[in-house]
Amino acid sequence: MSISCDMLVFGGTGDLALHKLIPALYHLHREGRLHRDVRVLALARKKLDRAAYLALAERHCRAQVARGDFTSEAWQAFATRLDYLPLDATQRSEFVRLAHHLGEAGKRGVRVHYLATAPDLFEPIAANLESAGLAGDDARIVLEKPIGHSLDSALEINEAIGAVFPESRIYRIDHYLGKETVQNLMALRFANALFEPIWRAGHIDHVQITVAETLGVENRGGYYDHAGAMRDMLQNHLLQLLCLVAMEAPVRFDAKHIRGEKVKVLEALKPITGNDVLDKTVRGQYGAGRIGGHDVPAYYFEPNIDNDSDTETFVAVQAEVDNWRWAGVPFYLRTGKRMARKRSEIIITFKQVPHLLFKKGEVNRLVISLQPEECISLQLMAKAPGKGMQLEPVELDLNLAHAFSSTRRWEAYERLLLDVIEGDSTLFMRRDEVEAAWRWVDPILEGWQGHYRKPRPYPAGEDGPEQARQLVERHGHQWWR
Ligand code: BG6
Repeated sequence: MSISCDMLVFGGTGDLALHKLIPALYHLHREGRLHRDVRVLALARKKLDRAAYLALAERHCRAQVARGDFTSEAWQAFATRLDYLPLDATQRSEFVRLAHHLGEAGKRGVRVHYLATAPDLFEPIAANLESAGLAGDDARIVLEKPIGHSLDSALEINEAIGAVFPESRIYRIDHYLGKETVQNLMALRFANALFEPIWRAGHIDHVQITVAETLGVENRGGYYDHAGAMRDMLQNHLLQLLCLVAMEAPVRFDAKHIRGEKVKVLEALKPITGNDVLDKTVRGQYGAGRIGGHDVPAYYFEPNIDNDSDTETFVAVQAEVDNWRWAGVPFYLRTGKRMARKRSEIIITFKQVPHLLFKKGEVNRLVISLQPEECISLQLMAKAPGKGMQLEPVELDLNLAHAFSSTRRWEAYERLLLDVIEGDSTLFMRRDEVEAAWRWVDPILEGWQGHYRKPRPYPAGEDGPEQARQLVERHGHQWWR
């Protein structure tokens, strides 16, 4: 399906637009997935003319796209779709100018307003779009996470956006849901008879979800120092992964049913309150260290970060899904910046066999690796060659990049942008999902303030603070390496 559309990117000179959205649209263009009438209008405060914006966008796109996928011819052709308009999104009068600009260009199919801005601009932009007549039936709005800063602010944003756009035309993006392996998790669970019978407390010992990055805050200090790892990553990406691991099979593979099942998981998360906050969560902040052979500074020496900042760049939580299927199974979640290795993975550790026949009591593990490699491997016990029954763990590997080697792996944003244009909200967060996630996260954030404790330091290039290791070890578990 290919639909004509005007895509307006608010925050058009920001990192997200330049590093992710424009390259994703370029790929879609190059592979012929965009209707010939799709036009992209980037908007931001900077006073640039179209030529200057195109030069900026080309430079970033060239740097982001794999060598071989970027050609000047393809860029030139793509650039004919691209335009730029300086705009102060807080000024209502500017939207009249915007409407005029769009009017001159002629109306094309649906209109997508992509808000790649800070959340405090969501409300004014929606209101200004409405007053300029740009929020009609053909208009959709895309909101980037984090939606708000807390439950209250998320409610406020949802209320304000909901007053302008019906829920069916609001797309709350969490780019993790656009990752191939994340969708593969649903295929693995619901298209194979193998796992479902043992996908429950009686057979699963614990679940780990790790999203580790080697990057620091780069030039996003202004935003990050007010967000921290909990709001930036755990409230959204990690909880979404948890939902996909823990949800029941949806009745149908569509937006209503999948999102309905995810909300039930979020609502079943056991609240972490009072002293449990200290017991079941660990906050950390990176200090100076080495990454990839280079010295890197401590968090509080990064640009735009307060020297005495106590924002967490690492968080680990022991969560529990309090329902029939999962009661008693720990879900350990952790994410951090400046960690030893970039990797996102979900590890399902199964229980030991009920009766040990062999000396080595190893367990089966299903390792779902989202990045850098996309692969799924099952750790089984096998007999090592030779005399006696020496058991060793061996891996049954499914490398998705090899299995589908003739197909280019899509970036998450490519898939999600196409879904917005085509009006498919299956992989976007519904209002109640976002609010349920905040409802669980808020008491943890409040607990951190109430029982104030500075974040635990960890050297850049290591796997987070010591306390995160203790969090799992006291239950006889270990983080999977
Ligand atoms: C974003 C966060 O949502 O996800 C960033 O705001 C983080 O801080 C990024 O670096 C990680 O995404 P990915 O796809 O590289 O794992």
